[in-house]
Amino acid sequence: MSARPQLGITAAANSAALFLTYNQSSAEGALANVLNVLRQIPALEAEYRTQYPDADFHAVAAIGSGYWDRLSAHKRPAELAPFPALENGGNVAPFTPVDLLFHIRSERKDLNFQFASALSAQLGDAVELVEEVEGFRYLDSRDLTGFVDGTENPEGEHRIDVAVVGDEDRAFYGGSYIHIQRYVHNMTHWNRLQIKAQEDIMGRTKAENIEYAGADKALTAHTKRTSLKDSNGNSVEILRHSMPYGDLQACGLLFASYCRNNQNFRLMLESMVSGDGEGHTDHLLKYTRAVTGAAFFAPSVEGLAELGS
Ligand code: HEM
Repeated sequence: MSARPQLGITAAANSAALFLTYNQSSAEGALANVLNVLRQIPALEAEYRTQYPDADFHAVAAIGSGYWDRLSAHKRPAELAPFPALENGGNVAPFTPVDLLFHIRSERKDLNFQFASALSAQLGDAVELVEEVEGFRYLDSRDLTGFVDGTENPEGEHRIDVAVVGDEDRAFYGGSYIHIQRYVHNMTHWNRLQIKAQEDIMGRTKAENIEYAGADKALTAHTKRTSLKDSNGNSVEILRHSMPYGDLQACGLLFASYCRNNQNFRLMLESMVSGDGEGHTDHLLKYTRAVTGAAFFAPSVEGLAELGS
Protein backbone atom coordinates (compact mmCIF):
# COMPACT_ATOMS: atom_id res chain seq x y z
CA MET A 1 0.00 0.00 0.00
CA SER A 2 1.33 3.43 -0.86
CA ALA A 3 1.83 6.10 1.80
CA ARG A 4 -1.21 8.20 2.72
CA PRO A 5 -0.93 12.00 2.78
CA GLN A 6 -1.96 13.68 6.04
CA LEU A 7 -5.65 14.59 5.56
CA GLY A 8 -5.34 18.32 6.14
CA ILE A 9 -2.97 18.81 3.21
CA THR A 10 -5.65 18.86 0.53
CA ALA A 11 -8.88 19.20 2.58
CA ALA A 12 -11.16 22.15 1.75
CA ALA A 13 -10.81 25.37 3.74
CA ASN A 14 -12.26 25.61 7.26
CA SER A 15 -13.61 28.60 9.18
CA ALA A 16 -11.14 28.41 12.10
CA ALA A 17 -7.46 27.50 12.39
CA LEU A 18 -4.55 27.45 14.81
CA PHE A 19 -0.99 27.65 13.51
CA LEU A 20 1.34 26.51 16.31
CA THR A 21 5.11 26.72 15.88
CA TYR A 22 7.60 25.28 18.36
CA ASN A 23 11.29 24.80 18.90
CA GLN A 24 12.58 21.70 20.67
CA SER A 25 13.95 22.49 24.13
CA SER A 26 17.14 21.18 25.70
CA ALA A 27 15.18 19.26 28.37
CA GLU A 28 16.26 15.68 28.99
CA GLY A 29 14.37 13.26 26.73
CA ALA A 30 12.97 16.11 24.60
CA LEU A 31 13.71 14.51 21.23
CA ALA A 32 12.12 11.19 22.21
CA ASN A 33 9.03 12.98 23.50
CA VAL A 34 8.64 15.02 20.30
CA LEU A 35 8.94 11.84 18.19
CA ASN A 36 6.37 10.11 20.32
CA VAL A 37 3.87 12.96 19.91
CA LEU A 38 4.46 13.29 16.15
CA ARG A 39 3.75 9.60 15.59
CA GLN A 40 0.41 9.91 17.39
CA ILE A 41 -0.99 12.92 15.51
CA PRO A 42 -2.93 11.01 12.79
CA ALA A 43 -4.57 8.76 15.41
CA LEU A 44 -5.53 11.75 17.58
CA GLU A 45 -6.92 13.52 14.52
CA ALA A 46 -8.95 10.39 13.66
CA GLU A 47 -10.41 10.32 17.21
CA TYR A 48 -11.58 13.92 16.84
CA ARG A 49 -13.02 13.22 13.41
CA THR A 50 -15.02 10.27 14.80
CA GLN A 51 -16.13 12.01 17.96
CA TYR A 52 -17.10 15.30 16.25
CA PRO A 53 -18.15 14.26 12.71
CA ASP A 54 -19.61 17.66 11.83
CA ALA A 55 -16.50 19.63 12.72
CA ASP A 56 -14.38 18.65 9.68
CA PHE A 57 -11.33 18.53 11.93
CA HIS A 58 -7.73 18.38 10.62
CA ALA A 59 -4.31 18.46 12.26
CA VAL A 60 -1.20 18.48 10.07
CA ALA A 61 2.19 17.92 11.73
CA ALA A 62 5.26 19.22 9.88
CA ILE A 63 8.98 19.33 10.57
CA GLY A 64 11.18 22.39 10.08
CA SER A 65 13.95 22.22 7.49
CA GLY A 66 16.66 22.85 10.11
CA TYR A 67 15.27 20.22 12.49
CA TRP A 68 14.65 17.38 10.04
CA ASP A 69 18.06 15.70 10.37
CA ARG A 70 17.65 15.34 14.14
CA LEU A 71 14.45 13.36 13.65
CA SER A 72 15.57 11.33 10.67
CA ALA A 73 19.33 11.17 10.31
CA HIS A 74 19.48 8.81 7.33
CA LYS A 75 17.04 10.17 4.76
CA ARG A 76 15.82 13.63 3.92
CA PRO A 77 13.11 14.88 1.52
CA ALA A 78 14.91 15.66 -1.75
CA GLU A 79 14.04 19.36 -1.86
CA LEU A 80 13.78 20.30 1.82
CA ALA A 81 15.68 23.61 2.19
CA PRO A 82 15.73 26.58 4.57
CA PHE A 83 13.15 29.33 4.09
CA PRO A 84 14.39 31.61 1.26
CA ALA A 85 14.87 34.91 3.15
CA LEU A 86 14.77 37.89 0.77
CA GLU A 87 15.24 41.64 0.96
CA ASN A 88 14.85 44.25 -1.75
CA GLY A 89 14.60 47.87 -0.63
CA GLY A 90 11.58 48.06 1.67
CA ASN A 91 10.34 44.58 0.65
CA VAL A 92 11.34 41.92 3.15
CA ALA A 93 10.76 38.20 3.63
CA PRO A 94 12.54 37.27 6.86
CA PHE A 95 13.45 33.77 8.00
CA THR A 96 12.40 32.53 11.45
CA PRO A 97 14.15 29.45 12.90
CA VAL A 98 11.38 26.99 13.82
CA ASP A 99 11.45 23.22 14.43
CA LEU A 100 7.80 22.16 14.31
CA LEU A 101 4.48 23.28 12.85
CA PHE A 102 1.04 22.02 13.85
CA HIS A 103 -1.67 23.33 11.51
CA ILE A 104 -4.95 22.62 13.29
CA ARG A 105 -8.22 23.58 11.60
CA SER A 106 -11.93 22.81 11.72
CA GLU A 107 -15.37 24.40 11.90
CA ARG A 108 -15.04 24.69 15.69
CA LYS A 109 -12.67 27.05 17.42
CA ASP A 110 -13.35 25.27 20.74
CA LEU A 111 -12.16 21.92 19.33
CA ASN A 112 -9.07 23.51 17.83
CA PHE A 113 -8.25 24.92 21.25
CA GLN A 114 -8.96 21.62 23.02
CA PHE A 115 -6.71 19.69 20.62
CA ALA A 116 -3.96 22.32 20.95
CA SER A 117 -4.17 22.18 24.76
CA ALA A 118 -3.88 18.38 24.79
CA LEU A 119 -0.99 18.55 22.32
CA SER A 120 0.80 21.17 24.39
CA ALA A 121 0.35 19.07 27.56
CA GLN A 122 1.81 16.02 25.83
CA LEU A 123 4.78 17.93 24.46
CA GLY A 124 5.39 19.36 27.94
CA ASP A 125 8.86 20.79 28.47
CA ALA A 126 10.19 19.08 25.32
CA VAL A 127 9.35 22.22 23.35
CA GLU A 128 9.14 25.99 23.59
CA LEU A 129 6.24 27.73 21.88
CA VAL A 130 7.46 30.15 19.20
CA GLU A 131 4.10 31.46 18.04
CA GLU A 132 0.40 30.65 18.29
CA VAL A 133 -1.68 32.32 15.58
CA GLU A 134 -5.44 31.97 15.48
CA GLY A 135 -6.84 32.24 11.96
CA PHE A 136 -10.49 32.98 11.20
CA ARG A 137 -12.66 33.06 8.11
CA TYR A 138 -13.53 36.68 7.33
CA LEU A 139 -16.82 37.31 5.48
CA ASP A 140 -16.95 35.20 2.28
CA SER A 141 -13.34 34.00 2.64
CA ARG A 142 -11.78 37.42 2.25
CA ASP A 143 -8.42 38.65 3.38
CA LEU A 144 -8.63 41.64 5.76
CA THR A 145 -7.84 43.89 2.76
CA GLY A 146 -11.42 43.02 1.73
CA PHE A 147 -10.48 40.84 -1.28
CA VAL A 148 -11.59 37.21 -1.64
CA ASP A 149 -8.49 35.03 -1.08
CA GLY A 150 -8.13 31.52 -2.49
CA THR A 151 -10.21 31.83 -5.68
CA GLU A 152 -7.49 30.53 -8.01
CA ASN A 153 -6.51 27.66 -5.70
CA PRO A 154 -6.38 24.24 -7.40
CA GLU A 155 -9.58 22.21 -7.00
CA GLY A 156 -10.65 18.56 -6.74
CA GLU A 157 -8.06 15.90 -7.63
CA HIS A 158 -5.77 18.61 -8.96
CA ARG A 159 -5.08 19.62 -5.32
CA ILE A 160 -3.22 16.29 -4.91
CA ASP A 161 -1.17 16.88 -8.09
CA VAL A 162 -0.15 20.30 -6.81
CA ALA A 163 0.37 19.66 -3.09
CA VAL A 164 1.47 16.04 -2.62
CA VAL A 165 4.86 14.47 -3.43
CA GLY A 166 4.51 11.63 -5.96
CA ASP A 167 6.85 9.16 -7.64
CA GLU A 168 9.59 11.78 -8.10
CA ASP A 169 10.71 11.08 -4.50
CA ARG A 170 9.51 7.55 -3.64
CA ALA A 171 10.86 7.61 -0.08
CA PHE A 172 8.73 10.68 0.68
CA TYR A 173 5.65 9.82 -1.38
CA GLY A 174 2.55 11.37 0.20
CA GLY A 175 4.42 14.24 1.86
CA SER A 176 4.14 17.98 1.28
CA TYR A 177 6.43 21.02 1.43
CA ILE A 178 4.92 23.81 3.53
CA HIS A 179 5.88 27.48 3.75
CA ILE A 180 4.34 29.91 6.21
CA GLN A 181 4.76 33.65 6.60
CA ARG A 182 2.96 35.97 8.99
CA TYR A 183 2.10 39.25 7.30
CA VAL A 184 1.09 42.37 9.26
CA HIS A 185 -1.16 44.70 7.25
CA ASN A 186 -1.02 48.48 7.44
CA MET A 187 -4.80 48.86 7.40
CA THR A 188 -4.75 52.64 7.83
CA HIS A 189 -2.53 53.02 4.80
CA TRP A 190 -4.56 50.49 2.76
CA ASN A 191 -7.93 52.01 3.66
CA ARG A 192 -6.79 55.41 2.42
CA LEU A 193 -6.59 54.02 -1.12
CA GLN A 194 -9.52 54.39 -3.53
CA ILE A 195 -11.18 51.03 -4.28
CA LYS A 196 -9.93 51.22 -7.90
CA ALA A 197 -6.33 51.62 -6.68
CA GLN A 198 -6.76 48.57 -4.40
CA GLU A 199 -8.21 46.58 -7.29
CA ASP A 200 -5.28 47.55 -9.54
CA ILE A 201 -2.90 46.22 -6.87
CA MET A 202 -4.72 42.88 -6.66
CA GLY A 203 -5.56 42.58 -10.38
CA ARG A 204 -9.15 41.64 -9.46
CA THR A 205 -12.31 43.59 -8.60
CA LYS A 206 -13.12 43.89 -4.91
CA ALA A 207 -16.86 43.35 -4.38
CA GLU A 208 -17.48 40.93 -7.26
CA ASN A 209 -14.04 39.27 -7.25
CA ILE A 210 -13.66 39.32 -11.04
CA GLU A 211 -10.21 38.83 -12.54
CA TYR A 212 -8.87 41.73 -14.62
CA ALA A 213 -8.28 40.97 -18.30
CA GLY A 214 -4.60 40.14 -18.88
CA ALA A 215 -3.94 43.40 -20.73
CA ASP A 216 -5.38 45.42 -17.82
CA LYS A 217 -3.21 43.78 -15.13
CA ALA A 218 -0.24 45.90 -14.08
CA LEU A 219 3.12 44.11 -13.92
CA THR A 220 3.12 45.13 -10.24
CA ALA A 221 -0.29 43.52 -9.48
CA HIS A 222 -0.20 40.73 -6.90
CA THR A 223 -1.95 38.22 -9.18
CA LYS A 224 0.41 39.15 -12.04
CA ARG A 225 3.52 38.61 -9.92
CA THR A 226 2.25 35.25 -8.59
CA SER A 227 0.85 33.67 -11.80
CA LEU A 228 4.01 32.18 -13.24
CA LYS A 229 4.75 29.69 -16.01
CA ASP A 230 7.69 27.30 -16.15
CA SER A 231 9.98 26.92 -19.19
CA ASN A 232 7.51 24.42 -20.74
CA GLY A 233 4.63 26.87 -20.42
CA ASN A 234 2.99 24.99 -17.53
CA SER A 235 1.50 26.94 -14.62
CA VAL A 236 3.63 27.09 -11.47
CA GLU A 237 1.14 26.24 -8.71
CA ILE A 238 0.80 26.01 -4.93
CA LEU A 239 -2.15 25.15 -2.67
CA ARG A 240 -2.82 28.05 -0.28
CA HIS A 241 -4.37 27.59 3.16
CA SER A 242 -3.83 31.17 4.35
CA MET A 243 -6.10 32.69 7.02
CA PRO A 244 -6.72 36.21 8.36
CA TYR A 245 -5.69 36.70 11.99
CA GLY A 246 -5.34 39.44 14.54
CA ASP A 247 -7.05 42.07 16.65
CA LEU A 248 -7.54 45.84 16.68
CA GLN A 249 -3.86 46.44 17.39
CA ALA A 250 -2.24 44.18 14.79
CA CYS A 251 -3.77 42.08 12.06
CA GLY A 252 -2.98 40.54 8.71
CA LEU A 253 -2.66 37.23 6.90
CA LEU A 254 -1.05 34.01 8.08
CA PHE A 255 0.07 32.88 4.62
CA ALA A 256 0.41 29.10 4.25
CA SER A 257 1.25 27.15 1.10
CA TYR A 258 1.48 23.41 0.48
CA CYS A 259 3.28 22.04 -2.56
CA ARG A 260 4.78 18.80 -3.99
CA ASN A 261 8.02 20.70 -4.51
CA ASN A 262 9.98 23.33 -2.67
CA GLN A 263 10.59 25.69 -5.54
CA ASN A 264 7.15 26.92 -6.63
CA PHE A 265 6.70 29.00 -3.49
CA ARG A 266 10.26 30.35 -3.78
CA LEU A 267 9.75 31.40 -7.41
CA MET A 268 6.56 33.28 -6.49
CA LEU A 269 8.11 34.94 -3.47
CA GLU A 270 11.11 36.07 -5.55
CA SER A 271 8.75 37.42 -8.19
CA MET A 272 6.88 39.42 -5.51
CA VAL A 273 9.85 40.70 -3.47
CA SER A 274 12.69 40.93 -5.99
CA GLY A 275 10.49 41.49 -9.05
CA ASP A 276 11.00 40.72 -12.70
CA GLY A 277 14.47 42.24 -13.10
CA GLU A 278 12.92 45.39 -14.57
CA GLY A 279 11.82 46.95 -11.30
CA HIS A 280 8.31 45.47 -11.17
CA THR A 281 7.80 44.20 -7.64
CA ASP A 282 4.47 43.35 -5.96
CA HIS A 283 2.79 46.58 -4.86
CA LEU A 284 0.73 44.69 -2.27
CA LEU A 285 3.96 44.65 -0.25
CA LYS A 286 3.66 48.43 0.23
CA TYR A 287 0.67 47.72 2.47
CA THR A 288 1.69 44.52 4.26
CA ARG A 289 4.95 43.25 5.70
CA ALA A 290 6.15 39.72 6.40
CA VAL A 291 7.43 39.41 9.97
CA THR A 292 8.08 35.63 10.02
CA GLY A 293 8.93 32.91 7.48
CA ALA A 294 9.58 29.19 7.81
CA ALA A 295 9.84 26.05 5.65
CA PHE A 296 8.62 22.59 6.70
CA PHE A 297 7.94 19.11 5.38
CA ALA A 298 4.76 17.25 6.35
CA PRO A 299 5.53 13.51 5.93
CA SER A 300 2.85 10.99 4.99
CA VAL A 301 1.00 9.22 7.83
CA GLU A 302 3.37 6.24 7.42
CA GLY A 303 6.35 8.63 7.19
CA LEU A 304 5.41 10.19 10.54
CA ALA A 305 5.27 6.73 12.13
CA GLU A 306 8.76 5.90 10.82
CA LEU A 307 10.46 9.08 12.10
CA GLY A 308 13.35 8.38 14.42
CA SER A 309 14.10 4.98 12.89
C1 HEM B 1 -3.86 35.30 -5.31
C2 HEM B 1 -4.00 37.88 -1.22
C3 HEM B 1 0.59 36.58 -0.27
C4 HEM B 1 0.44 33.53 -4.01
C5 HEM B 1 -4.28 36.14 -4.30
C6 HEM B 1 -5.54 36.85 -4.29
C7 HEM B 1 -5.58 37.56 -3.13
C8 HEM B 1 -4.35 37.34 -2.42
C9 HEM B 1 -6.71 38.46 -2.62
C10 HEM B 1 -6.61 36.80 -5.40
C11 HEM B 1 -7.59 35.69 -5.27
C12 HEM B 1 -7.03 34.30 -5.33
O1 HEM B 1 -6.83 33.72 -6.41
O2 HEM B 1 -6.75 33.76 -4.26
C13 HEM B 1 -2.75 37.79 -0.63
C14 HEM B 1 -2.33 38.52 0.54
C15 HEM B 1 -1.03 38.16 0.80
C16 HEM B 1 -0.65 37.20 -0.20
C17 HEM B 1 -3.22 39.51 1.30
C18 HEM B 1 -0.09 38.60 1.89
C19 HEM B 1 -0.41 39.45 2.82
C20 HEM B 1 0.96 35.65 -1.20
C21 HEM B 1 2.22 34.98 -1.24
C22 HEM B 1 2.18 34.11 -2.30
C23 HEM B 1 0.88 34.25 -2.91
C24 HEM B 1 3.36 35.20 -0.24
C25 HEM B 1 3.23 33.15 -2.80
C26 HEM B 1 4.54 33.29 -2.56
C27 HEM B 1 -0.74 33.75 -4.66
C28 HEM B 1 -1.14 33.02 -5.87
C29 HEM B 1 -2.37 33.56 -6.26
C30 HEM B 1 -2.70 34.58 -5.28
C31 HEM B 1 -0.39 31.89 -6.54
C32 HEM B 1 -3.21 33.15 -7.48
C33 HEM B 1 -2.74 33.98 -8.66
C34 HEM B 1 -3.56 33.70 -9.90
O3 HEM B 1 -3.36 32.64 -10.50
O4 HEM B 1 -4.39 34.56 -10.25
N1 HEM B 1 -3.57 36.47 -3.16
N2 HEM B 1 -1.71 37.00 -1.04
N3 HEM B 1 0.16 35.19 -2.22
N4 HEM B 1 -1.70 34.67 -4.34
FE1 HEM B 1 -1.68 35.88 -2.74
